[in-house]
Amino acid sequence: MIELPKDLGVCILRDFTVEDAEASAAMEYDSDVKRYVGDGIMKRTREQYIEQFPNKLDLMGYAIQAKDGRLAGRASLDQSFVPQEPNIAIVLSRDFQGIGFGRAVAHCILSDWFCDVRGVAVRAEVHSDNSASLALLKSLGFVQTSERNEIGHDIYRLGRAKFKS
Ligand SMILES: CC(C)(COP(=O)(O)OP(=O)(O)OC[C@H]1O[C@@H](n2cnc3c(N)ncnc32)[C@H](O)[C@@H]1OP(=O)(O)O)[C@@H](O)C(=O)NCCC(=O)NCCS
Repeated sequence: MIELPKDLGVCILRDFTVEDAEASAAMEYDSDVKRYVGDGIMKRTREQYIEQFPNKLDLMGYAIQAKDGRLAGRASLDQSFVPQEPNIAIVLSRDFQGIGFGRAVAHCILSDWFCDVRGVAVRAEVHSDNSASLALLKSLGFVQTSERNEIGHDIYRLGRAKFKS
């Protein structure tokens, strides 16, 4: 278990709070971000998203906060599909992409899973055009499997033996 808040140097991992609703909506409804997240379609209007946000805090995973206090994104390790091989997901607002937050957050979550929980593997579902995500995953040692998820995203996998702590 990652103890929160957790200072990663470049950014902070913490729980979501009700105050994050607007910043979270700004990120999730940004077409440049959401085209790579899930099927790229938001089921609710932005107003509904903000209204329902306080009821969804437990489902949001980790909030990623920049050092200046702004919400930078979210991250999760979702065990609901294959519990022994959870899915890692990291989503950053445009302002915070490409400055090392993704790498720091991924390393923290993977360290916890492999070194503390002693997990066997982690999976990631990636749109084949998502060059930032692919660069990050490959540099961490993820390799492409022959599987695709139901919306056509490639499935990558990292086993514990290949994780560099
Ligand atoms: C994918 C994502 C999580 C990566 O995190 P990030 O903080 O932007 O990436 P980092 O700055 O930590 O960089 C990680 C590596 O990717 C490379 N990279 C970053 N952006 C890149 C881009 N646009 N194209 C190619 N490579 C890129 C970096 O060079 C770095 O490699 P290096 O350390 O060997 O130089 C982030 O860009 C993002 O949230 N994008 C939008 C949502 C998304 O696609 N999420 C993933 C699917 S759920």
